[in-house]
Amino acid sequence: MNTTIGQWLRSPSFSSYCDREYILQHVLNKSKSEIYLLWEQTLPKNQLKKCSDILFRHEKGEPLAYILGEVEFYSDTFFTDAKVFIPRPETEILVESVLNYYQNSYPRHFVDFGCGSGSIGLSLLKRWPKSQLLAVDTNRYALNLTLKNAGKFKLEKRIHLCFQNIIDLEIKHPIQLITANPPYIAKGDVGLQPAVEKYEPETALFSEWSGLKAICTWLDKACSILSKEGGNYFFEIGYNQYEEVKNILKNKHLVKYFTSYKDYQGYKRVIHCSVKRK
Ligand SMILES: C[S@@+](CC[C@H](N)C(=O)[O-])C[C@H]1O[C@@H](n2cnc3c(N)ncnc32)[C@H](O)[C@@H]1O
Repeated sequence: MNTTIGQWLRSPSFSSYCDREYILQHVLNKSKSEIYLLWEQTLPKNQLKKCSDILFRHEKGEPLAYILGEVEFYSDTFFTDAKVFIPRPETEILVESVLNYYQNSYPRHFVDFGCGSGSIGLSLLKRWPKSQLLAVDTNRYALNLTLKNAGKFKLEKRIHLCFQNIIDLEIKHPIQLITANPPYIAKGDVGLQPAVEKYEPETALFSEWSGLKAICTWLDKACSILSKEGGNYFFEIGYNQYEEVKNILKNKHLVKYFTSYKDYQGYKRVIHCSVKRK
């Protein structure tokens, strides 16, 4: 029996409607609106099989971003790699906060700590045509993926990749802006989805000291390399980490002020702190 696009979309499954819509878009290489114009059309057998195979793998737990090799982030499609962290919607708030802060003039050089797929740094670089980005990570696959995504957006001439531990990073001239989404999950966190732990790289997820080690050590590094004339550090934290992070920030003598931004569920997830010589 033939299956129409509309029937496949509405068929009962464990996956959400949005996921099925996204699978169809990918397999048919059509936009969301085009899919709806084709609603009554029969899904050719080979494409029906492709869609069903993807759905099957996804329903067994594999992230769609890894199966499809791409993910949406801040209105762009980024390539993904099964050895690299998948960019998340919460992190779009970080990008948005940075862009709102630098509405009139943006920094010429900035650094992205733990670049992963390049989602944060490249989203900013795309909107700042005169900037240069230093993308740092200890995962070679992440640096390769950042380069691949930079090529996709024709930004490869304005990025510099650095394979290094943030702790060992040395930069001679003062930096105006650093961004980061550090690993911040405590080992054994019961709230973590099993698929995340099973499929995503451990070094991108977990941090010692109940999830706070990278947050603390990257903050120290940011303070040491940011311009003391008002350099800015924007970083993401876990949904339940704000109170602890607030106390850490209050005790940093170089932090002139800090503020936070909430995620879609009302948790304070993005911190902006500014550094100044007292
Ligand atoms: C949560 S992921 C964030 C990736 C990307 N910025 C994003 O938001 O999608 C953290 C990234 O930091 C990198 N990382 C972890 N520890 C690191 C370290 N000590 N030095 C440099 N990079 C590190 C991981 O490899 C991973 O790519």
